[in-house]
Amino acid sequence: MQTVTTIKALHEQLDRARAEGKRIGLVPTMGNLHQGHLRLVEAALQHADFVVASIFVNPLQFGPSEDLERYPRTLAEDQAQLTQSGCHLLFAPNEAEIYPHGRTGQTFVEVPGISDLYCGASRPGHFRGVTTIVNKLFNLVRPDVAVFGRKDYQQLHVISRMVSDLSIPVELIGVGTERADNGLALSSRNGYLSAEELTVAPTLYATLTDMARALKQGDSDHALLIEHAQQQLERAGFVRDYIHILRRSDMLPARAEDRELVIIAAAYLGAARLIDNIEVDL
Ligand code: PAF
Repeated sequence: MQTVTTIKALHEQLDRARAEGKRIGLVPTMGNLHQGHLRLVEAALQHADFVVASIFVNPLQFGPSEDLERYPRTLAEDQAQLTQSGCHLLFAPNEAEIYPHGRTGQTFVEVPGISDLYCGASRPGHFRGVTTIVNKLFNLVRPDVAVFGRKDYQQLHVISRMVSDLSIPVELIGVGTERADNGLALSSRNGYLSAEELTVAPTLYATLTDMARALKQGDSDHALLIEHAQQQLERAGFVRDYIHILRRSDMLPARAEDRELVIIAAAYLGAARLIDNIEVDL
């Protein structure tokens, strides 16, 4: 697998692949790859002949007091894993290559409404940063197919809205969350957890699983379910951010008649903010 860091070199590689009639797949990442990312590459390889992964720790999606500086950067290990996975090309640009006008001079892409809810409420500007970089990567790579993890459920929803609103000619694929045996969703931010916190962290998914079971058993008092879940998390040592029971179609609060639901949650544990979700069909 080759690594390119400039847009020019990226285009040279892509022109060659396209001239050979290859279908292009894109897996955007911020690096520090784990098994979850490799699943995304695997999925891309099933839908494309030439798979490009990108690694770019996008400053525009981090708030001023967030973890941009300490976000793990492990390029050599990532390159080795991507090579093993069968990925064809890594695009790993620096910030000046992507944002030549700086962080404040950059044109933004923003999906209104949903970008301000849930993770967007806790992390103002986050989704604007995500849609800006993903749109830029779509324009740079012009992939036939792009693959994202369903762990970032709201992110995938926001990106789908952007693709639909702007008629971007790309097929989106969402890949299910990769979990440790104890249920903990794999995430680069799990690296912020102490050994003790790592034993507590699976409680997040266990709590969502309990909620899903209660919903399936006919419990329809969403407010009470959410409050009990928050208390369960707090007893385990989490600090609350949000839990919501939503309908999947538009990610707005579920009503009694909705059948296709998703429970999304975010909570702080030590230095980490963990997110997870579970889809529930009633
Ligand atoms: O999910 C991520 O890792 C990032 O939000 C993404 C999609 C690569 C954009 O920076």
